[in-house]
Amino acid sequence: MKNKLLHTPDGVRDLYNEAYKKKLSLQNKLHQVFAEYGCMDIQTPTFEYFDVFSNQIGTTPSKDLFKFFDTDGNTVVLRPDFTPSIARCVAKYFEPDEEPVKLCYMGNTFANSSSYQGRLKETTQCGVEYIGDASATADAQMLAMVVDCIKAIGIEDFQLSVGHAGFFDALLDAANMRKRHANNLRSLLDNKNFLGVEDFVEQLEIEEDLKNLFLLLADFDISEEDFINAKAWTKKYPKIAKAMDSLEELNANVKEKGIENHISFELGMISNYEYYTGIIFAGYTYGLGEPIVKGGRYDTLLSNFDKDAPAIGFAFVVDQLLTAVDKLSMKAAGVDNDDRYLTFALGKGRLAKKTLELFEQIGITCEEIFDKNTRKLIFVNEELKLKFFLSKGPDVPTYVEHGAADIGIVGKDTILEEGRNIYEVLDLGFGNCRMCICGPKSAEELLKHQEQIRVATKYPQIAKDYFYNKKHQTVEIIKLNGSIELAPIVGLSDVICDIVETGATLRENGLDVLEEVCPLSARMVVNEVSMKMENERITKLIRDLKEVL
Ligand code: PRP
Repeated sequence: MKNKLLHTPDGVRDLYNEAYKKKLSLQNKLHQVFAEYGCMDIQTPTFEYFDVFSNQIGTTPSKDLFKFFDTDGNTVVLRPDFTPSIARCVAKYFEPDEEPVKLCYMGNTFANSSSYQGRLKETTQCGVEYIGDASATADAQMLAMVVDCIKAIGIEDFQLSVGHAGFFDALLDAANMRKRHANNLRSLLDNKNFLGVEDFVEQLEIEEDLKNLFLLLADFDISEEDFINAKAWTKKYPKIAKAMDSLEELNANVKEKGIENHISFELGMISNYEYYTGIIFAGYTYGLGEPIVKGGRYDTLLSNFDKDAPAIGFAFVVDQLLTAVDKLSMKAAGVDNDDRYLTFALGKGRLAKKTLELFEQIGITCEEIFDKNTRKLIFVNEELKLKFFLSKGPDVPTYVEHGAADIGIVGKDTILEEGRNIYEVLDLGFGNCRMCICGPKSAEELLKHQEQIRVATKYPQIAKDYFYNKKHQTVEIIKLNGSIELAPIVGLSDVICDIVETGATLRENGLDVLEEVCPLSARMVVNEVSMKMENERITKLIRDLKEVL
């Protein structure tokens, strides 16, 4: 037979028979809940003008959009999500003095993400946008709808985190914090590095009340007592008080609806999407490495389309829900009944040895892993319900991002290079070294000028970021897999971007450090969902480790 093209491109797939039936049934269950809440169906086009999904409005970076030109030469994109399209639509058809309206949608969305990441480029999303009601009751109703949706598809063990986009901004305002400083804090919050947040706040020279409010950012579950205390702390800070009051009101509404067991208020939750103005939330369950639902209030989004109306929405990715439901049924059938173990992925070699030495100090042991004769891949500590496996360094962030490991130990170099969506929660303080630009002394001059130079490296992303974004210099990057120091010696490159620990390799080969890119050390990384679902165990582990460091 001739070489017929029968397979689909990477990231898209056919779905038929039972698998498709399962998906349709899940969609129907969600749609039924939407209908019970009085949502009206809406359909928007699969592709729209690029501007509808531009930076201020969209959630997907421009490079990840499928773009093409229509016959008039306009740039159009396949929609990466629905919210901007619906905002555009509502701006056209909805009058501000009209009754609030709930719209629900279902359809495919597209993201041109990198290949080989185990991600689909075409997924089905379904969700709701509630336009015209700015009240806490509307917020609570949306949360209740999300809870009902998740229950309707048979998931009982799940948690929703609720934060407030305005709280963090109000704190920064009250402390009059400089942008660079604020960005440091933002990065700690992004990484759920609560110990880092605590240290950061302790060093702030601000009033005690404001400090207490800042410390709420490090708390994964705001208690009733915190809400009461905040009343006193926010007296001088009306903007912060406003955010806290609206959360407190929401809390009361949530209790009225009887869904409080599934909800925790997490003020350190921040969103990188500019369009959120009020509450933001995400839902988590076992069996999936990322949230099953995300949403929030976006009262100013419609103003991008010259209309003023408050709005709140959420979206489920149906394909991800299917995976979660499948894992759940496997568990029910007894095939996979061990997701309450905490699983660690350790970067092979020195790092793993040092990590286990450190773990021993807090009473966590795993003798077996050092047995040279074993070909076993997974090692279990039954007593503590822990599992360990060793993997190549660059694979650690991958396992953790997908939730195949809850926790990983890996060098900062690998974290930077892999750019995965994981939380970097703790600097373990060992494996200290530096990422440097090295070469013969004669190359020093080359680096000062804007001439084209060749850089050999095992870390193309780090090299790119350093030369393009920090030095604004165009370079030619050559990817190698090891013994990078060879490259300038045999004339393959002018310089290298590589790790320097003792400097011995450089010295013995007549090379020097010419510029320093960044310091490096071993870090503990955690999966997004594990941090939520196993929060108590993981935060205890982090605190115990910090004690002995
Ligand atoms: C690392 C790094 C340098 C060397 C630096 O290589 O890439 O080559 O260690 O250490 P030093 O400053 O103490 O001499 P590694 O041994 O991990 O192997 P690789 O060259 O194959 O990457």
